[in-house]
This record gives sequence, C-alpha cells and structure tokens, in this order.
Amino acid sequence: MTTQANTPIITEDVFLTSPKDTRIANLAARVGQEVTLHGWVNTARSSGKISFIELRDGSGYVQCVGEHHLLSPETMTEIQRCSQESSITVDGVVQEHPKQKGVYEINLRRVQVLHQALDYPLGKKDHGPDFLLENRHLWLRSRTQWAIQRIRNTIIHATYEFFSAYGFIKIDAPIITSTACEGTTTLFSMDYHDLGKAYLSQSGQLYIEAAVMSHGRVFDFGPVFRAEKSKTKKHLSEFWMMDAEMAFCTHQQNMRFQEELISYIIGRVLALNQAELATMKRNTATLEKVKPPFVRLTHAQVVQMLQKEGATIKANDDLGAPDEAILAKLFDVPVFIERWPAEIKAFYMKRASDDPSVVLAADLMAPEGFGEILGGSQREDDYETLKKRMESENVPISEFQWYLDLRKYGSVPHAGFGFGLERLVNWISGAEHIRETIPFPRLLYRFKP
Ligand code: 4AD
Ligand code: MG
Repeated sequence: MTTQANTPIITEDVFLTSPKDTRIANLAARVGQEVTLHGWVNTARSSGKISFIELRDGSGYVQCVGEHHLLSPETMTEIQRCSQESSITVDGVVQEHPKQKGVYEINLRRVQVLHQALDYPLGKKDHGPDFLLENRHLWLRSRTQWAIQRIRNTIIHATYEFFSAYGFIKIDAPIITSTACEGTTTLFSMDYHDLGKAYLSQSGQLYIEAAVMSHGRVFDFGPVFRAEKSKTKKHLSEFWMMDAEMAFCTHQQNMRFQEELISYIIGRVLALNQAELATMKRNTATLEKVKPPFVRLTHAQVVQMLQKEGATIKANDDLGAPDEAILAKLFDVPVFIERWPAEIKAFYMKRASDDPSVVLAADLMAPEGFGEILGGSQREDDYETLKKRMESENVPISEFQWYLDLRKYGSVPHAGFGFGLERLVNWISGAEHIRETIPFPRLLYRFKP
C-alpha cells in the first residue's frame, strides 16, 4: 500500500444517492441540468399560473419557480402542502437568475413533501427575545441565525489555520479545575467525588502555560464558564475561549501576533461569508479597514482621553460600559490598551521593568462599541516575584505550586492571550446581542433549552 497525503480527497459525496442529487451551494456547476435538492420550505406562495418556493438545504437558499403548465397534478397537490418548514424534495432545472448574475433558480419539475410542518411557531412576524430564546431549537433555522453560525464556523476554522501555519500545537485544557484562573468571584463550583469542591474552568491559560514549556507554541479552544451576575449584551455564563501561549515571546511580539491573527480571521470571513454578511446587513467597510498595525494606547493615555470627553474614570479604574462607548466614538479601528495598573489586573502578569506599577498586558477593544474581544499579557517568569505577588493577593500557594514549578525548571520569557469566540462573532457578524452568537446561550436567567 502506498502512503497517501493526509488530506482527504473527496471523489464522491457519500451523502448523495443519485447523480442528480446536489446541494444549493453547488448549483453554479449544474446550470442547464436537472437536479434534485432536499431541504425545507422557507416561504411558499402561488398565484394563478405560477408558484414560488424558497428552499433552504443548509448550504444556502434558492428560489424554486413552478410553472403550473409544466407540473403534474400530483406535484400541484404537493405544492399546496408546502407550509413553512415542511421538509421536501424537489426536482428541477438550474437556471441563472435573469437579472442577477451568480444567483441561481430552480425551474420545478416535481415536488414531494416528506413531512408537512403544521403551525410552525416562528412565523414571519416579529417575536420578542424571550419567545425566540424559548424556541431557540427552532430559531436556529432562521436566516440570520444560520448566517451567524456560518460566520462563527469560519472564525473557528481560520483560527486553527492560523495557529497551524505558525506551528502551534492544540492542547486541550481541563474543564474541571481545582483553582481559579481569573479571580474567585466568578467561579461555578461543584462537588467532586469525595475530594471537596471543584470549579469549572474560566480559562485554560494556566494549564497551557505548562504545555508551552513542552511544545513552545500552544493554544486551546474550548468552553469556559463565568458565574458573574452580569446581564449585559456582552456576557455569557458559558462561552468558548481560545487561549494561546508562546515561549520566548515578549509583550510587543504578543501584540504583533494578535493583530495578525485578528486581521487574518476577518480576511477569511470577508472572503467566504459575503452572503452571510449581507443577510446580517453588516456594513463591511469597517471590517475591510482592519489591518495591522492596530492603534496602541497605554491605559494612562486612554484615561486622559476619556476624562477629556467628560468621563468620570480615574487613574486606576477598569473601563466601564460608558467608557467603552466613548472610545468607540473616538476610534473606528481596533485599539490595544496596554500597560494596565497592576492592581486591577491578574496575578500572573509581568510588571514593566521601567514602571513596576503597570503590567505588560494589553486588551484589544473592537470598534463600533463591541468592546473588549481579547486580553493578553507577558507572564511573570521569576519564581520569587510571582510567589510574592500571589501571597500579597491571597492566592493559595499550595494549590498553585505546580504553576510556580514552571518558573523553577528552565523558566523563559513567555506571553499569551485569549479571545472570547462569541465576542468576536458578535463584532464581525454585527449580531444584535451575544446570545445570538452561540447555538444554545447560557445567560444569567436562562439555561434552557
Ligand atoms: O479577559 P479574560 O478574563 O482573560 C482571560 O481569561 C485570560 N486568562 C486569557 C489569556 O490570557 N489566555 O477573558 C478573555 C476574553 C475577553 O477578552 C472576552 O473577549 C471574553 O474572553 N470574555 C467573555 N465573553 C463572553 N462572556 C463573558 N462573560 C466573558 N468574559 C470574558
Ligand atoms: Mg479581560
């Protein structure tokens, strides 16, 4: 047996049962041919001599036109049964739209209803957010929700592509943990067998700091949990975080890498998801402007700017929602805020050698009011300095001895960052609320369905 390249070569789609079978996304290759499509009715209407069915099959949407004089009595009966969300199979000839280039239509020959959906609860009228969330299992089928998940999928893939190109190894951090990564006030806890309290991970960072000493460049990408009692458009109780960690990496290199990653992700969405962005009515001009280098401001500079605009923020304050709103008015591009006051940032961040009151951390603020999408820092790599900082912040040393150990055996300068996938999806897709960016959102007042 010869060794094959390890990329799959798809010669035949295993899901297709006849040579006529195809998917909406592939219609361009079938113009003039009769094809079979399987999907669901988005809308259907008939008038006199002609019927229109808008079909969706997961890969896209297509208008099916039924000229009644071409159709059998059986198909005419089936068209009557095409209520919203009924599952159907159609046969028809692929035509390019008479006026829109690159848009295809199906001239129907046959329609068969597989399962008729009666009284689908999500009609065409506007529903309130509670009703939609209650019906999230069905809401996912709507065109905007479909578009958002496809953009999310591109972002996930682009992230893997980018890290892979830079030689990163994916490391799966644990979800059940014995300690806090981002402060004890936002931890979900649980009873762990007979061993006492365990916590759901807030970020895999500390664990991938161990793995980076094995692989040099690593990332994780998985669910994390925050118990903060926030009911904003930006907070989820469960979300997907990507953490990256690089050995022999400084604060400056960390930011350089981040702006390349974010620009790459946006470039991929612009290349692959124009139809989805149009569905979202997303103004892509601001996305097209996202190119390295990003604006870099120190926290002190930002505080000054905000104060000038009338904000009440003080020197050692974190940014609040009103501050983020002002910043969004001042910049229409992503902005790094770096060199944060050490006292409001995590214990693991390295202090600047020229000013120990600030840490070598940067948060990336998205434009258009979407706020912080990413946070990172160079890590404290000196055993004694880190230990002192942990003691002064009452971090339980015994629980973190393994983490301190990393500074005991071949410590190196290292840095890393994490982004919240849903924050990124929210910004790039232009979705109204973070709850629309994850298939089944867990919010302060909801964890069903
Ligand atoms: O800023 P955070 O808390 O940073 C960390 O967890 C670091 N350990 C990351 C690292 O250096 N490896 O969270 C990182 C990102 C934020 O910038 C934000 O995008 C997102 O996670 N995030 C949330 N997204 C949705 N809902 C929440 N409740 C979030 N909290 C943080
Ligand atoms: Mg942060």
